[in-house]
Amino acid sequence: ALVLNDEIDISRGDMIVRKNNLAEIAGAFEALVCWFSEEPLKENNSYLIKHTTQNTRATVSKIRYNINIADLHRQPAESLQLNDIGRLSLKTNQPLLFDAFQNNKNTGSFIIIDEITNNTVGAGLILHKILDDEINNSSKKGAVIWLTGLSGSGKSAIADRVYRYLKKKDISCQRLDGDVMREALSKDLGYSKEDRDKNIERAAFVAKLLSDHGVFVLSSFISPYQKQRDKIRKQVNNFIEVFVSAPLEVCERRDVKGLYKKARAGKIANFTGISDPYQIPKKPELVLETDKENLKQSAEKIIKYLEQKGFV
Ligand code: ADX
Repeated sequence: ALVLNDEIDISRGDMIVRKNNLAEIAGAFEALVCWFSEEPLKENNSYLIKHTTQNTRATVSKIRYNINIADLHRQPAESLQLNDIGRLSLKTNQPLLFDAFQNNKNTGSFIIIDEITNNTVGAGLILHKILDDEINNSSKKGAVIWLTGLSGSGKSAIADRVYRYLKKKDISCQRLDGDVMREALSKDLGYSKEDRDKNIERAAFVAKLLSDHGVFVLSSFISPYQKQRDKIRKQVNNFIEVFVSAPLEVCERRDVKGLYKKARAGKIANFTGISDPYQIPKKPELVLETDKENLKQSAEKIIKYLEQKGFV
């Protein structure tokens, strides 16, 4: 029997610890797991976890590797098969109080139960806790691919091609286009420096929301000012500035929307390249010269970059 000095409401599952030897409290940890089931363990699957006296549901947020038992080498894995031993990140529905297995075998181990069959399908050793940010960064990796350039330089068409490529690969992605944005969220804005800054600020806000949730954002805005683009770079994770470059004469010759003609005739004020400045990106991640390369080549440059940097 235990007699407490203070009146506290405690019950089964609570933990009494020494002041200088506190357990970890976390809803996410890394573990080595031995898998007993014929049905493989996969990322994003949920299981019941029995840890000390607690039962909670846990999701496999990442399979880091499995161990080849013949030579003990780590090998990349997408699942754990029967008798595999692998290292995983798990996220629990409720925080657990635990220690690393090497410090405490009882509070550092758990079993995994299949909720439907009630069978024990795995056993695990806890290595260490992980922070929520680490999970987000590892399992959800979005990026903001920011295409900037004159009107008619080819931003939207290139964004569209990359978008379709990512979709085909089942990668979450979203397009944010100047023309669409101005119809939907920036209807109140014109083309003064102030209004353009506001427009880009709104676009950057949406891009951040999406990319924080693992979405690849393909933005096509003239975004003529370096300062504003630098601001987005600071705001979002994985900012990829893509300068879609074509000489003004070329864009003007293309004049897809007939706007250059109107701007030259003085019917549109503050037109980028004619009566409003475009500041060439100082240090873009990519430059696409759409007067020298075709759409396919430009889109491929972006895709190659994403592959090289390990995004896709
Ligand atoms: S930005 O400067 O705020 O980034 P955004 O990309 O949203 O511009 O919008 C540019 C589109 O608006 C152009 O493709 C063009 O169709 C249209 N547009 C209308 N007026 C102007 C103007 N004065 N300058 C540039 N684009 C204009």
